[in-house]
Amino acid sequence: MNFDKPISREGTYTEKYESRIIKFGTKDVLPLWVADMDLPSSPAIQSALMERVKHPIYGYTGYYDAYFDAIVGWMRKAHGWQIEKEWIAPINAIVTGLNLSVEALTKEGDGIIIQPPIYPPFYYAAKNHGRKLLENELKIVDGRYEIDFEDFEEKAKVAKLFLFCSPHNPTGRVWKKDELEKLARICKENGVHIISDEVHSDLVYEGNCHIPMATIEDAKNITVTLNAPSKTFNIAGIVSAYAIVENSSLRRRFHEIFKRYSLTQPTPISLSATVAAYTGSDNWLDELLVYLRENLEYIKSRLFKMPDIKAMPIESTFLLWLDCKSLNLDDKKLEVFFTKEAKLGLNTGKSFGKGGEGFMRLNFAVPRVVLEQAMDSLEYAYMQKLR
Ligand SMILES: Cc1ncc(COP(=O)(O)O)c(C=O)c1O
Repeated sequence: MNFDKPISREGTYTEKYESRIIKFGTKDVLPLWVADMDLPSSPAIQSALMERVKHPIYGYTGYYDAYFDAIVGWMRKAHGWQIEKEWIAPINAIVTGLNLSVEALTKEGDGIIIQPPIYPPFYYAAKNHGRKLLENELKIVDGRYEIDFEDFEEKAKVAKLFLFCSPHNPTGRVWKKDELEKLARICKENGVHIISDEVHSDLVYEGNCHIPMATIEDAKNITVTLNAPSKTFNIAGIVSAYAIVENSSLRRRFHEIFKRYSLTQPTPISLSATVAAYTGSDNWLDELLVYLRENLEYIKSRLFKMPDIKAMPIESTFLLWLDCKSLNLDDKKLEVFFTKEAKLGLNTGKSFGKGGEGFMRLNFAVPRVVLEQAMDSLEYAYMQKLR
């Protein structure tokens, strides 16, 4: 696949581009924020969609076997996880799943654990429903994010639900088996359900291995896994998420809430895209991971000259968490530096909550030439600042 060739997203009402004025107050920034890729989706997905669109009737569609088989096959092949078709409950978007989980499994005032700095909808999912937020802040130990288990155990005593991000956005951590086992044991002992958002699980770099939380013995009966081909195959605009729930009584609570909100209708294109992603896109994904890894190496080679901006170790995702604390700028000034001086549209660390202060998040899923432009621009602003 040719990922090098820039593809204009002009005219496609792309959030990353169209919302620049609202987000950064100017159109004059290279947008490296919203978590989708400026890279083409797989040829299999493109042709499956074209094939479906060729048929001129786009009426109500039902879930069909090939859709469930594709998810079952992918979980087995990509993650060594043998699931049953019946465990799958399709949802629209992962964030919908987070919110529905909160409604299905907790009531007002119940405690919900999250691990900041974290993807902001984790906060909203707890807060919007009047639940009590319990923040188990991740800690940097020897330059790497770690879980504070002592604090987690304290919070679990008064929690009903744990919204887990695995792999973790924005830190890029892929959790190890012993970490998952500890979390699962604590949750089980304290009667805490786990919602495991694993949407980044296929974008994992060599030397790391994503383990689905629900495959951990203590977790399998208390876990709802949320996943989708959206991030991996760059089809986030085509809502295609699903929940995997082994425990049948938990599953029943999910199905009840889907019915309550009439969330039982798929779109025909989301089914076609999911099947093509999971059954015909392996080679494309292998090539993508190589490309992303090379982009990462390129950024690191450029940051070498900018020692006050440090890339945190990244094990997964195309979102790089930059430690900018050595620039000695407060968060407002840091944002101004990136937006106005470097002319780059990044997410501020502080938008990810506690522990995000002094960080910026950079989406590097772009053609290399765009990254070159971004790094030139950052280096220029950096050198100006040193003067
Ligand atoms: C951890 C995580 N969950 C969910 C989402 C969004 O998923 P969806 O668009 O399906 O709601 C994102 C997008 O960045 C994410 O990083």
